[in-house]
Amino acid sequence: MQNELKQQVAKSALAYVPKDEIIGVGTGSTVDYFIRELATMRHDIAGAVASSERSKKLLEEVGIEVLDINSAPNIAVYIDGADEVERSGYCIKGGGGALTREKIVAAIANKFICIVDDSKVVDVLGRDFPVAIEVLAEARSHVGRDCVAMGANPVYREGFVTDSGHIILDVYGLNFSDIKALDTNLNAIVGVVCHGLFVSERPNTILVASSAGVTAFAAT
Ligand code: 5RP
Repeated sequence: MQNELKQQVAKSALAYVPKDEIIGVGTGSTVDYFIRELATMRHDIAGAVASSERSKKLLEEVGIEVLDINSAPNIAVYIDGADEVERSGYCIKGGGGALTREKIVAAIANKFICIVDDSKVVDVLGRDFPVAIEVLAEARSHVGRDCVAMGANPVYREGFVTDSGHIILDVYGLNFSDIKALDTNLNAIVGVVCHGLFVSERPNTILVASSAGVTAFAAT
């Protein structure tokens, strides 16, 4: 059922893809469905920028030209999933480990459309899902200690290396009462490359699939 909802929301995102523009494409199982849908429009778009090697490979397999992120003059819209999203648009991403490139594409794109099934919509972020933090390998212990000092519980993602060659700490139990301060404090830890809490880079619109269909809401 969840896969059907992912497929539905992925299809509905096509309505947000403008013609003759470069499209930012995220990462994950929901986005895999979106890439297959986007293939039906491949002659109508100017190409795609991928947020991961996984998505790049799939985009190329379905015949969509993939542009280098540094060479793309403009990204009209970015389509990506999330692990948890609030109705405000604040969200947690990075379950698939692609958070840094995802945040870069989100920062460049004119518009970010988040596509999720209704199990991802939460009242408060972080109760169930950790915040993934991409970290320089040399800073693993230091970043872990700073997370513990913040009252949280960092867990090393065993055997995982990001597309940029770094490690991931999945951090449970962070305090979300002031999300902007949390964003700033995590970014300030030496050795942190990027974290999976999307605050400034949050989506503009969230498409949510449920058994009743797909609904769109604007982030506040
Ligand atoms: C990858 C992500 C994904 O968007 C997130 O993990 C959701 O994945 P899925 O669509 O497979 O549920 O942030 O880094």
